[in-house]
Amino acid sequence: MGNTKTVSVLGLGRMGSALATALAHEGFAVRVWNRSAKPRPAGTVEATLEEALAADVVVTCLSTYDVQQPLLTNGVKTLVNLTSGTPEQARATARWAKENGVEYVDGVIMAVPQQIGTDQARILFSGSEDHHVLQAFGEPVHLGEDAGLAALYDLALLGLMWSTFGGYLQALALVGSAGVTPERFTPLATDWLAVVSTLLPPMGEETHTRNYETDVSALDINVSGLRLLTEANAEQGLDTSLPQVLHHLFERAKLNGHGAHGIASVIEEIRK
Ligand SMILES: NC(=O)c1ccc[n+]([C@@H]2O[C@H](COP(=O)([O-])OP(=O)(O)OC[C@H]3O[C@@H](n4cnc5c(N)ncnc54)[C@H](OP(=O)(O)O)[C@@H]3O)[C@@H](O)[C@H]2O)c1
Repeated sequence: MGNTKTVSVLGLGRMGSALATALAHEGFAVRVWNRSAKPRPAGTVEATLEEALAADVVVTCLSTYDVQQPLLTNGVKTLVNLTSGTPEQARATARWAKENGVEYVDGVIMAVPQQIGTDQARILFSGSEDHHVLQAFGEPVHLGEDAGLAALYDLALLGLMWSTFGGYLQALALVGSAGVTPERFTPLATDWLAVVSTLLPPMGEETHTRNYETDVSALDINVSGLRLLTEANAEQGLDTSLPQVLHHLFERAKLNGHGAHGIASVIEEIRK
């Protein structure tokens, strides 16, 4: 059955094309606009910018807020912004929307284009509680009224991902320097990450209560471990910037009195 709402998608990059395809699949009347000529996703209609902005819901998925903001006009009814940015950029757009009578939903896509429209995609959103068309893309999760929350969660989760990728690549280079292949090492790495992830909830609780007493592993011993990691990478002729950053950060926490505390106490250095 068709969906009576008209929805437009501004931006037919990798992600915007996947979003437009998912909307058409859900039966929405989909208008698409892109700055340069791009293949039109099946089931969608090409529109001028003016026509696209007149739709019931305007979904934006452009490279940055800087390229997005000049395109928007106060004739927009509902704006579902899926362009990545900082919390302050989202809040500024929310203020613009309020001043111009535009309903504003700020969302972030925790998926790659190939996962859009599947149960692997999760869309975190903040601002308006009405998720409008987001369920066409994945599972919508409302985070709160503050429009900046989605961007905040997005960058926090991506930061975790990038740190993990950095750690994995450093580990691959380290074992690779002795001829160990990724195929041999990676199963141990994924099992290890599963163990490590069980440590996050108690650590999170410690950062909340700020009680860092531990009978598991003191910061002291981890500072020594990070020194060994840095030295081992240097010995194997590898770049040491990543282990050094962690070593310095953990060591600062130790020097500031947390040597006998758990690793969670490092957050006291980060919060400054
Ligand atoms: N790809 C992912 O896996 C993924 C995942 C989550 C979130 N996102 C977010 O989704 C957004 C789009 O990502 P993407 O992967 O689709 O990027 P992309 O393939 O590089 O597409 C970028 C889009 O922005 C448009 N654009 C760039 N500069 C413009 C300008 N000055 N004026 C008008 N339009 C302009 C491009 O138009 P042209 O075609 O004319 O250049 C294109 O439609 C980003 O904010 C990204 O962080 C992406």
